[in-house]
Amino acid sequence: MSLRTIRIVGDPILTKVSKEVKEMTPRLDQLVDDMLETMYENDGVGLAAPQVGILKRIVVIDVGEGPIVLINPKIVAEAGSQTGMEGCLSLPGKSGQVTRPNEVKVVAFDREMKEFTLTGTELLARAICHECEHLDGHLYTERVEGELVDNDAEEE
Ligand code: NI
Repeated sequence: MSLRTIRIVGDPILTKVSKEVKEMTPRLDQLVDDMLETMYENDGVGLAAPQVGILKRIVVIDVGEGPIVLINPKIVAEAGSQTGMEGCLSLPGKSGQVTRPNEVKVVAFDREMKEFTLTGTELLARAICHECEHLDGHLYTERVEGELVDNDAEEE
């Protein structure tokens, strides 16, 4: 495994639409490993492939309950709402208030390209929404209510 460079806001690749994965290849399998390693190294709860410069519909998430890999994810149901602070590894040191569904159901493929359904609530629902938007070239800053704030107080 190896760390990948995270693209920062302003990089045009973050605004592009990613392509569906047709089949898992050793190269994409390596990408998933690298994305997980890069997410953990940077203390993130999620990372989307375009954030490491690859326009493929692949997302990794870990909200503290173990790694989740979503390939070609599609959100098929949403319920409720939650408002809270959100950040992104492509905007280091910043966060902003965003309203998201409190529960989402997502259909995706795993690393063996087997389809599965996942329901997430609270932070997991937020992470799923946030990461899936990266695959369509959107950043949470488009949804921020009020101003982006500096995370200084929260950094160690
Ligand atoms: Ni992000």
